[in-house]
Amino acid sequence: MITPVLLCGGSGTRLWPLSRKSYPKQFVPLVGEETLFQASAKRLSGRASDLAFAAPLVLTNSDFRFIVTEQLMAIGIDPGAILIEPEGRNTAPAILAAALHAVATDPEAVLLIAPSDHVVPDAEAFRAAVARGLGAVAQGDLVTFGITPDRPETGYGYLELASAPDASGAPVKLKRFVEKPDAARAAEMLAEGSFLWNAGIFLTRARDLLAAFETHAAGLMAPVTAALAEAKPDLGFLRLAPGPWSEAPDISIDYAVMEKAPNLSVVPFTAAWSDLGGWDAVWRESGPDAQGVVTSNGAIAIDCENTLLRSDSDRLEVVGIGLKNVMAVAMNDAVLVADMSRAQDVKLAVEALKKKG
Ligand code: GDD
Ligand code: MG
Repeated sequence: MITPVLLCGGSGTRLWPLSRKSYPKQFVPLVGEETLFQASAKRLSGRASDLAFAAPLVLTNSDFRFIVTEQLMAIGIDPGAILIEPEGRNTAPAILAAALHAVATDPEAVLLIAPSDHVVPDAEAFRAAVARGLGAVAQGDLVTFGITPDRPETGYGYLELASAPDASGAPVKLKRFVEKPDAARAAEMLAEGSFLWNAGIFLTRARDLLAAFETHAAGLMAPVTAALAEAKPDLGFLRLAPGPWSEAPDISIDYAVMEKAPNLSVVPFTAAWSDLGGWDAVWRESGPDAQGVVTSNGAIAIDCENTLLRSDSDRLEVVGIGLKNVMAVAMNDAVLVADMSRAQDVKLAVEALKKKG
């Protein structure tokens, strides 16, 4: 059995105005009918030919707890546990709490740690990749999933392979894990050809992950262990203790463990994958027409090219005429209009609005 660990504590500011602090992108139907969180939970549920998934362990914060239960109930999935983080301390403390929680009931637990805001349309292909990683897990490796890069993206981690992958898609040992390089280094790695992107999904025995934390990020052990030991059940949730939790360093799993651990393998994943890191990615994943236009919810595009026109308002009509390389997203209380090349700068809008108060 594999226990899915679903991370859904992020706030996704680059997809403003749809993604809000109070209702971030993983809980919104961005591409298709289901929310990204629901699609992630479904992808890692039930039984496939040679895989069986246990009930998921969900890590989130207090604000999202009822959204989580409601959205899981709507797709008929019972969570194994929902751990509430008193505040966001990034992915390393959250994942450590999950690993400690899992070994307490099963010392041999195998975890599949996954973000809840990715688009992976071919769930079968993904489960097959997970199955291919299990051999490396049994040997004590931390297994990551690698995506073939097609641009010098600086928002991802890069995985340097120790040898070329073969056609079977079997796990390959990793030489190095480089988290979020600068633009020059990203371009070099793309040109070198021996790097894959880190999909941000990890498959490992919980006890091997704990050993890696002890070796490479020992400072997290005491606060997170205490936060779990002093956790309080509340309805169906388990609230981690705020005191010790606030002492956990704010750091991602990538910097805390993956960049340092020697026992890493990667399973190449060649089917479609996107982390929907901005409106340009939503545009790409929504299947632009021959002119490169994506409209949704009744928005109308006349003579537009490479444009996303999206209305998530029940009050506003959205019409674009003669637009090129534009993204426009209208909500009842906010409208974003931006050049497509500035998709990553949408977080600046959120910062500017925060300052305005
Ligand atoms: N529970 C919880 N608590 N979840 C969190 C927290 C937290 O404090 N912070 C982030 N998350 C969730 C996010 O909601 C997301 O689902 C996932 O953890 C990853 O966090 P991101 O903030 O989206 O990471 P990233 O995209 O910058 O980078 C990671 O993913 C890339 C691929 O998408 C890294 O693993 C990169 O190496 C990787 O390439
Ligand atoms: Mg992300």
